[in-house]
Amino acid sequence: RILILDFGSQVTQLIARRLREEGVYCEVWPFTADEARIRGFDPMGIVLSGGPASVTEGASPRAPQAVFEMGLPILGICYGQQTMCAQLGGQVEGSDHREFGRAHVEVADDCDLFHGVWDKGSREQVWMSHGDRVTALPPGFRAVAVSEGAPFAAIADDKRHFYGVQFHPEVVHTPHGHALLKNFVRRICGATGDWTMGAFRAEEIERIRAKVGKGRVICGLSGGVDSSVAAVLLHEAIGDQLTCIYVDHGLMRGGETEQVLSTFRDRFNIKLVHRDASDLFLGALAGVTDPEVKRKTIGRLFIEVFEEEQAKIGGADFLAQGTLYPDVIESVSATGGPSVTIKSHHNVGGLPEGMRMRLVEPLRELFKDEVRALGRELGMPEAIVGRHPFPGPGLAIRIPGEVTREKVQILQKADAIFLEEIRAAGLYDAIWQAFAVLLPVRTVGVMGDGRTYDQACALRAVTSTDGMTADVYPFEIAFLTRVCNRIVNEVRGINRVAYDVTSKPPGTIEWE
Ligand code: XMP
Repeated sequence: RILILDFGSQVTQLIARRLREEGVYCEVWPFTADEARIRGFDPMGIVLSGGPASVTEGASPRAPQAVFEMGLPILGICYGQQTMCAQLGGQVEGSDHREFGRAHVEVADDCDLFHGVWDKGSREQVWMSHGDRVTALPPGFRAVAVSEGAPFAAIADDKRHFYGVQFHPEVVHTPHGHALLKNFVRRICGATGDWTMGAFRAEEIERIRAKVGKGRVICGLSGGVDSSVAAVLLHEAIGDQLTCIYVDHGLMRGGETEQVLSTFRDRFNIKLVHRDASDLFLGALAGVTDPEVKRKTIGRLFIEVFEEEQAKIGGADFLAQGTLYPDVIESVSATGGPSVTIKSHHNVGGLPEGMRMRLVEPLRELFKDEVRALGRELGMPEAIVGRHPFPGPGLAIRIPGEVTREKVQILQKADAIFLEEIRAAGLYDAIWQAFAVLLPVRTVGVMGDGRTYDQACALRAVTSTDGMTADVYPFEIAFLTRVCNRIVNEVRGINRVAYDVTSKPPGTIEWE
């Protein structure tokens, strides 16, 4: 295992992603982690991430000095390289030669980091983002690559196995970056790269058994990827000690409830309580038009209903949640997140604050695509593991204005047609999320010889890697007109279709 100490770079998580892709387990910790904890983790090597601070400023962050005395290989990236140099007796200065974005380095010498990837004398593309630069090397180091703005674009102390790069090998714009990282963890740290989903599955099942013992576990199932994979993994570990609760708020996509029930009950034999609470939710939403009130109403009711069902089955010792690694990562950047509430998120994973049960979070070490890989490893159908994200409040936040059962049904039909056409065109996996939104406006149309005065719907499809930013999916116009024709012809109540071309930011993915 490898430890990544985070100095707050936007791309620290990508380092972890790349290492895990190489089959090497790693964790991201804040740079403030203390020596005892680091020794306890027993890493094979340490990566110091980039970060926004300047080493030349007085109070800027430093790595715990002890990491340089543990006899472990170290790779410093950008700020990580600079602080390593400053801490080991080198010099870092602010520079007029700022480099941002694509840059090139000349490979000045061979070293283990470049082995089989970059040859001495070659010119290589990298991605830089720095103002400061190292101007004098600490004792023991030599320069192995140079760039226009950085005489020490890559440095090596072969004896101590300390390496530093001014560029970012973890981003795709450094084409061979992943191979350099692979050299670091495999060749230099000696990691074997045997951390696979098969191994994780076996280990995690043992961990769940050891933790839960003979206890009973309850799991809120939403039909989304995370809770679904968590449920199947738990079931494999503890069988009927697991009960899943599916709270049906009546705001799911068309056919989704049936699919969840048949998959988990029939195919995986999981004990599953299905509570149809659609009357309750839709009743509480009557007359509500404010998006935040909608979200809070749904979140509150969800907890109430969940607790009722849990009481009915006699309670449990543990609550299972599909928490993922990005939610628990202790990175520096994660703590400096936005302070305004854009939307109060509700999901099955985040709910039960007042519940006094111990938590089981079998996915808390995984990234989203690793969860998908685990789901495939567990034999789960592609329709579930490859599914687009779906928000906890469901279709309620895709119906601006008041939500009624009739509107939900209209939207379900339009949405199903859009997704059916996307699947038929082979585009589903290229899109992060695609859905229809039912607009609270009526417009005039003409069908046959008659006038229509019906609702409009908007289609939304975006690409994204994490939902934080998103781009509009560029459909061919012929595709959009085909979907529009089908919706207007097949869905009673809709006579006009628009395509939402807003990216995020400034838009958000959902409309509310
Ligand atoms: P926005 O609309 O904020 O959405 O751009 C970003 C991503 O989050 C999903 N989303 C939610 N997921 N509970 C969830 O579990 C929620 O309350 C919620 N609201 C938005 C949204 O679908 C997108 O993937």
